[in-house]
Amino acid sequence: MIDRRRFLLSLGALAAAPAFSDSASYPFSLGVASGYPSPAGVVLWTRLTGDIGPLAIPVRWEVASDDSMKKIISHGELNADPEWAHSVHVEVQGLEPERWYWYRFTALDAQSTIGRTRTAPAASARPARLRFAFASCQHYEQGYFGAYRHIVADQPDLLVFLGDYIYESSWGKELVRRHGSPVPYALEQYRARHALYRTDPDLQAAHAACPWIVTWDDHEVVNDYADDRSADGMDRKSFLERRAAAYRAYYEHMPLPARMRPDGPHMRIYTQLGWGALARFYLLDNRQYRSWQACPRPGRRGGSNTVDVEACPRLGAPGRSMLGRAQERWLDGAFNETRAQWNILAQSTLMAQIDQLPGPGRRAWTDGWDGYPAARGRLLESVVAREISNPVVIGGDVHSFNVCQLKSDFDDPASPVVASEFVGTSITSQAWAHERLKEYLPDNPHVLYAEGRYRGYTRVDLDEKLWRADMRGMESVRSRDAACGTLATFVVEDGRPGPQRA
Ligand SMILES: [Fe+2]
Repeated sequence: MIDRRRFLLSLGALAAAPAFSDSASYPFSLGVASGYPSPAGVVLWTRLTGDIGPLAIPVRWEVASDDSMKKIISHGELNADPEWAHSVHVEVQGLEPERWYWYRFTALDAQSTIGRTRTAPAASARPARLRFAFASCQHYEQGYFGAYRHIVADQPDLLVFLGDYIYESSWGKELVRRHGSPVPYALEQYRARHALYRTDPDLQAAHAACPWIVTWDDHEVVNDYADDRSADGMDRKSFLERRAAAYRAYYEHMPLPARMRPDGPHMRIYTQLGWGALARFYLLDNRQYRSWQACPRPGRRGGSNTVDVEACPRLGAPGRSMLGRAQERWLDGAFNETRAQWNILAQSTLMAQIDQLPGPGRRAWTDGWDGYPAARGRLLESVVAREISNPVVIGGDVHSFNVCQLKSDFDDPASPVVASEFVGTSITSQAWAHERLKEYLPDNPHVLYAEGRYRGYTRVDLDEKLWRADMRGMESVRSRDAACGTLATFVVEDGRPGPQRA
């Protein structure tokens, strides 16, 4: 078997070598990426595309300590396997902590662009600062990904992507470009969708600028799915096949470590990542293990925008979970062990309770944490019980900026603030009407800021004493080079839960 593989490999290299003389068959047209930095290593990613045939292809990788790739300090070769869409995931080890590196790939006589990445500080180190950006929700048809230009210009150490990296369906108004293919169900279709998104030059540049860590939301598979249940009516077996295809394509296109490789419809992406003693990220999976949404509209599945909480007792059932019991236990265990100054829960959606009914009574949006109040309660109880230092939740999904106090009891104004929440707006995906957000504010005093008019990202500067978050809003997503400005700045002070306007 191995001999045959070697034989095919050498054939593949020979056969494909002359094929890319034109730029359309340049094998690195999807760019390069890196992710999941540790103090000693990082994951490097690329995927070969073009007219490369069905054979495995040897790929050489190099890591240098300088931007012109003169001082190569690590290199190796591995096979881009057609079973994994010729994607390449290299786990480089033996690097020095807390420094920038450059890398590139060579295959089929072609060379990739040079990417830049960095390692995390040593576990015991006390880095003076960390700058990261977080982003989510990039509908390809609804805008250009120009926000990434501004992220790259900010020179973050790390980029955190919080879900909806692709969209499976077409919707929205005033589209700037089209998917040009139907809703994906099969592996090849999900691969093509990821590859299309990855042709965006600003997205490619952001992947090449710094390491990413990622989690997903629903649209990487299909809107509002929950565990084994699709909102669009597929039977369970067919849906799990679809989920397997979507997860596999996701793995193939992200700089994920090999331990996250999917096994059929299962793929463990929840994990934690340390940044010295300064920060620890908990990347959560809100989709794969969650209970089905409670009280869907008659004849429907998935979430509902406005469920009357009084009329849906199931909503609050203690057995319902957002993360699944195994992930809940894992997170509680991680909270028990952390010594980090800042503990950052990176997950896909809004955590604060949002009452969507102005005046008496409460209506809830059941696909978000409001659909899983008992699970939210358990998570916040764990935050309090484990006495973790400076808990901050970051999220996406709602396509608007929201800065919130997370409380033990949202209905009680006297209930203590136990954590801070920052929800970032979308890169491009269209939002609810801003007026609707404003309408909710009087009933939700723990929401300190809500802004739905702008697409963009959030930039965070962190040191021992202060978390500073700048809400960065794009003037437009209808042109790649639109301006971007800071709409508001909120800080969190060490030892004082809850954001404050700067
Ligand atoms: Fe979204």
